Amino acid sequence: MKAVIFDLDGVITDTAEYHFQAWGSLAAALSIPFDREFNEQLKGISRTESLDKILARGNLSDKFSEEGKQELATRKNTEYQRLISAVTPSDILPGIKALLTELREARIGIALASASKNATFILERLELAYYFDSVVDVTAIRHGKPDPEIFLTGAANLGVQPAECIGIEDAQAGIQAIKGAGMFAVGVGTPSQMQGADIVVATTAELSLSMLESHFIRG
Ligand code: G6P
Ligand code: MG
Repeated sequence: MKAVIFDLDGVITDTAEYHFQAWGSLAAALSIPFDREFNEQLKGISRTESLDKILARGNLSDKFSEEGKQELATRKNTEYQRLISAVTPSDILPGIKALLTELREARIGIALASASKNATFILERLELAYYFDSVVDVTAIRHGKPDPEIFLTGAANLGVQPAECIGIEDAQAGIQAIKGAGMFAVGVGTPSQMQGADIVVATTAELSLSMLESHFIRG
């Protein structure tokens, strides 16, 4: 195992909850039903794709022009940025800082593969930017998760083979992306939400270098 490629929202910090809240406010304003089960489909996918799924759910896809959709996406992002402006290092999920420290000490590569355009801001708020050898530039990614491109780019940036990497995700689309890249997939969540993962942990507190090494099988 030469590298670990992390998702951000829901793996490093609980910003997945803030995405849920910000989309929930927008959906409520549009009278579109919105719940946690539906929200699972939005995890890991881009802002515009998420909006398309929400509008489709409310049969409103044809009601907004491209400009109108852009305005709705901006509205969601403004609310999301208000929520993340208060993020501090105390919001790092359990076990993550210790794992990053162990990985650095063992000289194992560390990359971030997040679909979020707010990822760099959040890493800085968490004071974790230092640990990452690479943060994949999402604006240069042509195909979002579940396509493997973002994880393959992370491995390429680190100069390692996909088969030598572990990917960690909290989204079904993310697990598909990791497996599509030919990597070992660790899911954070419940097994039903993490289909196809090689191992599933209920919380990030279960993650450590020795735990990952004991389960890792070359892809
Ligand atoms: C991550 C999250 C998604 C979010 C996406 C885009 O993948 O899991 O919920 O929609 O990033 O985030 P952004 O901050 O660019 O709107
Ligand atoms: Mg996530």
